[in-house]
Amino acid sequence: MTTATTSLAIHGGDPVRTTPIGQWPEFGLEEEEAILAALRSGIWGSIDGTFVDRLEVEFAELQAAKHGVATVNATMGLAVAMKSVGLGPGDEVIVPPYTFIATASAALMIGAIPTFADVDPETLLIDPDRIEAAVTPRTKAIVPVHHGGSPVDMDGVMDVARRHGLRVVEDAAQAHGAAWRGRPVGAIGDAGVFSFQSSKPLTAGEGGMMVTNDPEIDELLWSYRNVGRRRGGEWYQHVRLGWNLRMTELQAALLLAQMKRLPDQQARRTEAAAYLTERLEAIPGVVALKVPEGVTAHSWYTYHWRWLGARAGGLPKMEFARALRAEGIPCLHGYVPINRNEAVRAEIKRLGGAEPVACPAAEKADAEEILAFSMPILMATHADIDDVVRAVDKVARYRP
Ligand SMILES: Cc1ncc(COP(=O)(O)O)c(C=O)c1O
Repeated sequence: MTTATTSLAIHGGDPVRTTPIGQWPEFGLEEEEAILAALRSGIWGSIDGTFVDRLEVEFAELQAAKHGVATVNATMGLAVAMKSVGLGPGDEVIVPPYTFIATASAALMIGAIPTFADVDPETLLIDPDRIEAAVTPRTKAIVPVHHGGSPVDMDGVMDVARRHGLRVVEDAAQAHGAAWRGRPVGAIGDAGVFSFQSSKPLTAGEGGMMVTNDPEIDELLWSYRNVGRRRGGEWYQHVRLGWNLRMTELQAALLLAQMKRLPDQQARRTEAAAYLTERLEAIPGVVALKVPEGVTAHSWYTYHWRWLGARAGGLPKMEFARALRAEGIPCLHGYVPINRNEAVRAEIKRLGGAEPVACPAAEKADAEEILAFSMPILMATHADIDDVVRAVDKVARYRP
């Protein structure tokens, strides 16, 4: 039923696009000079350096936090932050199922047990009502994930936390520059963690940052990252067991230069996301994720969207993703819910935790609906985005 010109590229037709879309990371002379300055200083580790110290101050300011503690990545940053707010073996921590595995594996690495509160299918964000329903006498903390860079309803999360005496560690790995009702995320809860891994809105290839407003938590973040040392203490004075999780000066120099670009890049992505949403939603079967009304700044790390057209005879989601990739449009199929991950389930069992509950919204999102574009598409021109929309429209109209 398809003609030669409109047949899908996956069936041998002409692809909509043959060149890559968008570029990430963006860099120039500023980054070259910053890295050379760190290199020529001859001080590459942060102990005697200045770049990591500056980054901690400037990044904390960006997220309106009193303290920033740089680290090697967000996975370890989350483990350290969870430990620093008092989580330990056997404590339960409520996490969303629709996230990167590190949200749960960081808890398991310190012996804490993730339990799951399902997401809202229209936003893919953890739902405060479901968090409340998941609280047990063993629950000690909530780890909301600002998925895709969209802040979670932090009023709702903090309200549940206050009423049940729970700690909150924000997984802000994807949410640089994001804000809930005008408050930058990260230190709305007790602590928050950001990632600087290659694909993130601020990157040095790898890296992470922990933030907090609480001076006691700050001391612990610093200490666990520094092999259990004490600020101002002797080099071989280890007051607790910790790890060496320090960032290098070269990474921090690069991040300081990249940080200058962040506001403009975030504004470009915000505009591009609005442009993309308006056009995608004109295609039958395509539904954009809802952005909660309290989101006053979104980092637009990834662009997840819902394909509901399979019910009307269109391609099932995985085939849709393959067809779109064949059209020259990089298309992801979203997370596999971590409540279903075998490694996570085995470790929960080994630690004596309860079997993870089913999370129907996250599981349906994965099985049937969610497709995603990565950040470079939101850094691209309108003409590039028009190609994306043309390809989605072409695949969405196809009837097998
Ligand atoms: C939601 C979330 N949490 C944690 C992480 C872990 O970050 P990192 O790769 O810096 O360890 C990521 C990174 O992909 C993430 O997306």
